[in-house]
Amino acid sequence: MVYLHSKDDDCMKILVTGGAGYIGSHTCVELLNAGFDLVIIDNFSNSKPEAVEAIKKITGKDFKFYEMDYLNRELLEKVFEENEISAVIHFAGYKAVGESVEKPMDYYINNVSGSLTLLNTMKKYGVKKLVFSSSATVYGWPEKIPLTEDCHVGGTTNPYGTTKFFIERILEDIYHSDSTWGIAILRYFNPIGAHESGLIGEDPQGIPNNLMPYITKVASNELEKLSIFGDDYDTKDGTGVRDYIHVVDLAKGHVLALNKLEKEKSGLFIYNLGTGNGYSVLDMVKTYERVNQVEVPYEIVGRRKGDIAICYADPTKAKEELGFIASKTLEDMCRDSYHFARKKNR
Ligand code: WQD
Repeated sequence: MVYLHSKDDDCMKILVTGGAGYIGSHTCVELLNAGFDLVIIDNFSNSKPEAVEAIKKITGKDFKFYEMDYLNRELLEKVFEENEISAVIHFAGYKAVGESVEKPMDYYINNVSGSLTLLNTMKKYGVKKLVFSSSATVYGWPEKIPLTEDCHVGGTTNPYGTTKFFIERILEDIYHSDSTWGIAILRYFNPIGAHESGLIGEDPQGIPNNLMPYITKVASNELEKLSIFGDDYDTKDGTGVRDYIHVVDLAKGHVLALNKLEKEKSGLFIYNLGTGNGYSVLDMVKTYERVNQVEVPYEIVGRRKGDIAICYADPTKAKEELGFIASKTLEDMCRDSYHFARKKNR
């Protein structure tokens, strides 16, 4: 994919909230590579300062960084006062499904109130271009597979997913009240993998909830074995099927979405960012072992509450309207994940 940054906006900057996080840091690398100037804010609640230095090391480029909580309106206004912001990519937010069930208030305050503070500040400074980090979780129990953007949303099964659904609705209402906004809502499927440098990647605190970081910790002998949540689903081998997408492909999708907003000037655009391929848990385990020449011991246990059998995207709309094509393979994802973990543990 080739994407050009309009040079007439050179002094203008892209504000990236949560830019030190897993998807945020990979997106900042692609934005800098594409010639954008950045302002990154992050409070390191689910990321590390090393990621900020890694972005600079990978790209050889510098940018403004503020360690701050985006809910702090005063500090957020200071960012807009001190920088010519042309658009915002909004990643900041809590994203652990299980934790959201235990602490719903924290999720609604941080994700929904925080987004409203951001949007209100953008409006005050006349910044009306936004790319929002949403999730396929907004589809809830899938109406059909593969999922298209017009499928029913809102049947979310956990507070995390509900915050994403609420923020999507807020964005739609803002656009319908003022069509000079340019808003791109990106629904991620299952982002995994890491930058080929091994300098940035998924590094969750504690015991991972998601499959790939868990497999990686087992392969790195940090955890004993993988528990596979059920092998009695109506799938080819009985284990859950998901649309895993390499985080670098996902990051490049954000650059394409930003270019779309620059080209269209305004509009409300919703895209599934997935590969359109479904892989089972056992597909992942076997591929990971083969590519990295490691063993991933596992045990089949009961289903995890709230899990669905099969979920993968129809990525046609993103391909036709953004030119988005996820090019990296499951092998790439497994290789890059393990490479990052080994580099981190050195
Ligand atoms: C994938 C498959 C599990 C862990 C979640 C969020 C979603 C998004 C991506 C943020 C399933 C199985 C998993 C394990 C297992 N996050 N599994 N053992 O549930 O599809 O999506 O992460 O936007 O919002 O819901 O991803 O990686 O947790 O599970 O067997 O230890 O792996 O049952 O089939 P999921 P996951």
